[in-house]
Amino acid sequence: MALVSAKEMLTKAVEGGYAVGHFNINNLEWTKAILQTAQELQSPVILGVSEGAAKYMCGYTVVSNMVKAMIEELNITVPVALHLDHGTYEGAKKAIAAGFSSIQFDGGHAPIEDNLAKTAEFVAICNEKGLSLEAEVGSIGGEEDGVIGMGELADPAQCKTIADLGITMLAAGIGNIHGKYPANWQGLNFDVLSEIHKACSGKPLVLHGGTGIPAEMVKKAISLGVAKVNVNTECQLAFAAATRKYVEDGKDLSGKGFDPRKLLAPGVEAIKATVKEKMELFGSVGKA
Ligand code: 13P
Repeated sequence: MALVSAKEMLTKAVEGGYAVGHFNINNLEWTKAILQTAQELQSPVILGVSEGAAKYMCGYTVVSNMVKAMIEELNITVPVALHLDHGTYEGAKKAIAAGFSSIQFDGGHAPIEDNLAKTAEFVAICNEKGLSLEAEVGSIGGEEDGVIGMGELADPAQCKTIADLGITMLAAGIGNIHGKYPANWQGLNFDVLSEIHKACSGKPLVLHGGTGIPAEMVKKAISLGVAKVNVNTECQLAFAAATRKYVEDGKDLSGKGFDPRKLLAPGVEAIKATVKEKMELFGSVGKA
């Protein structure tokens, strides 16, 4: 199946009371592990690509061509969206030109008027090209220069204004942050989530910072309108731990254990297990 926008999969998720996982990719192994797990579990999936990861993989065109070719070569038949994560104005234009099927324009750091004007511009472009568009209100915190900021709470009235522009899905802060949660984290703010859900009349909501949110909180968030959950760090931690074990067990020193196809295999299996666990939690298994 060719790449699809995230619109139909998220509409179905809202109707069915589940969420679709957005998993960030970093390289060929990551992409293959996520696609194969989605196919095995018959789950729709969103491959997230940050601007930094796109640069690491030699640019948007390389990523887009790799994902499209992999879908074909691996006979992936479940719906797959290729999505720019936290795109800047320039990055979003480049990703669209390279054939991404879904875009996040993240104007959350800019003044709201600027965010609205640029988001409206992308609504027109994405509608014309049949792409899905994610907008963001406020900024979703996380670790910056070693300091972990607390999650912000978005203003429901601003959420409504941006949702009404005709975007596909909205990322709004409800106390969530990227990366590991600090020990004194207060948890997700379900009162704010409910208000945003009502204000945006059922528009699919996006939960960033999916790593480390307790399962019961994730389920409750899905029941209150979250239809897309972003996971990045958790796959990285699982990959790193499995790779560390392989090396610490001295397996790279035994026979051809240094072969990258062997060295990276435990990490790949760990990504697959993490993605499977998340798809089961989000309820997207069998929904392709
Ligand atoms: P985590 O790295 O916390 O899982 O967050 C991922 C994310 O929100 C990507 O946009």
